[in-house]
Amino acid sequence: MSRVVIIGSGIAGLFASLRLNEAGHEVIIITKQRPKDSSTNWAQGGIAGILDKTDGKGMEAHIKDTISSGDGLCNEEIVRCVVEEAGDRIRDLLSIGVDFEKEGDDFHLVKEGGHSARRILHAKDATGAEIERALTEAVASSENISLRPHTLGVDLIQTVHGEPGKGIKGIWCLSLDTGKMEAIAADAVLIATGGCGQLWERTTNPSVATGDGLAMAVRAGAASTDMAFFQFHPTALMAGNKIPFLITEALRGEGGVLLDNAGLEKYRTSPLGPDVHSFTLESSPDASLATRDVVARACDQRMKITGADNVWLITDHLDKDELRKNFPTIESKLNQFGLSLGRDPLPVAPAAHYMVGGLSVDIDGRALMSNGEVMKGLYAIGEVACTGMHGANRLASNSLLEAVVFANRAADHFISQPSNDLQEVPKWRAEGMQELEEHAPLIRDLETLRKTMTDDVGIVRSFSRLERAKRMLTLLSKEVDLIWRRSIPTRDLIELRNLVLVATHITEDALKRKENRGLHWNKDLI
Ligand code: SIN
Repeated sequence: MSRVVIIGSGIAGLFASLRLNEAGHEVIIITKQRPKDSSTNWAQGGIAGILDKTDGKGMEAHIKDTISSGDGLCNEEIVRCVVEEAGDRIRDLLSIGVDFEKEGDDFHLVKEGGHSARRILHAKDATGAEIERALTEAVASSENISLRPHTLGVDLIQTVHGEPGKGIKGIWCLSLDTGKMEAIAADAVLIATGGCGQLWERTTNPSVATGDGLAMAVRAGAASTDMAFFQFHPTALMAGNKIPFLITEALRGEGGVLLDNAGLEKYRTSPLGPDVHSFTLESSPDASLATRDVVARACDQRMKITGADNVWLITDHLDKDELRKNFPTIESKLNQFGLSLGRDPLPVAPAAHYMVGGLSVDIDGRALMSNGEVMKGLYAIGEVACTGMHGANRLASNSLLEAVVFANRAADHFISQPSNDLQEVPKWRAEGMQELEEHAPLIRDLETLRKTMTDDVGIVRSFSRLERAKRMLTLLSKEVDLIWRRSIPTRDLIELRNLVLVATHITEDALKRKENRGLHWNKDLI
């Protein structure tokens, strides 16, 4: 029996743990908060995929939409592999107990931006929560999976210190309950830590999305790729001052329309039509249902031109009962702010949503180094990985699909070539380290970091803004490093260190780019 450590408890980590366990391996899942504090749990829209293996036309259309949304930068081999495996993996989810919405004997399918057909399975507007429920229940009833909540991965342990090519033999992690560091030996480590939306002031991501897995793998010698492509979701609710609440694109799939202030004024007296239409029509004939990069940029530009804090999503021309039946989570959230679906214009604005770039991996999810060689004993799956599926802009609802397909592929790869050679791992060096006396500088640095990313590395960029961000990140990195070298690690120090590193990768990749593609939009390159 080999031992695999999985970091993260979203769809990718949980699904892989079940596969590895079925094959007789011991699995330890470490997760920073509660298992359900994952981006998966917050996913609303659904999982795209064609269930019927004989539906070649349907699969070709899914492949075409994915590639077109990726603005020419998708890896077609990977897209084909994921789309073709979709049916089997969705059936796996069904057999694990995920309850997708049905319509008679068939699944009820929805549509989102960039999809030319209805092909998204969903569980009302809380698909991720349903997937997370079924997977955590299955994990809880598995014998050889131990799930450790409140445990934060800090750094990977290299087999030979300073030689990434020799691979990984374990991980140091911090128990957030006891404050103690622990070294865990592993035959393989699977990173499934999700993204880094916490880099921006407005994000749809949970608080755990601080780029931890990406940062620790990069420090151990893994390569990142396509980091400039960070996806902003066009429609996060602008109400209340807490975490922006996502308004799923599926609502636009049902006919919701984006208007600016002037459009809304006209709409109060005339119906939608040639005279009253969405400002997004100026960016794409698909208007409010164009791909996410296009719609988010259109919203951002419109807000900058008019000085408004938000645009509006209108749904009052749609069937209210249907909306309230299909989007109960959104309706209940809106009600907290005195708003209602099918009645009120909803104030929305873009928010940081999904890391399209990530750790470079091969077709089996094995982490790669910058020379293209595999890093032994290290896999990356889900949002933290860049497989080539999403190109320069991810097609809506392809992320849960990619995560489950690659979780399966990585698990299968390990199962077919298991290593069984647990080695002794060194303790975390703690001599000479002090308790962190003041947390205030960390909080200030985090605020500066988020402001920098929001102002200078957002939806629309320029070389001078990116250069400014780089200077600020260099300074922050030095400050954090100084504290890191002399302090006993705490959660906020570890997260800040990771966030600064990931921000640097995003900014440097953006500075290198000579053309605008998908989510990377530099106004100096227009
Ligand atoms: C949404 O429901 O709009 C988000 C789905 C996704 O990010 O793919």
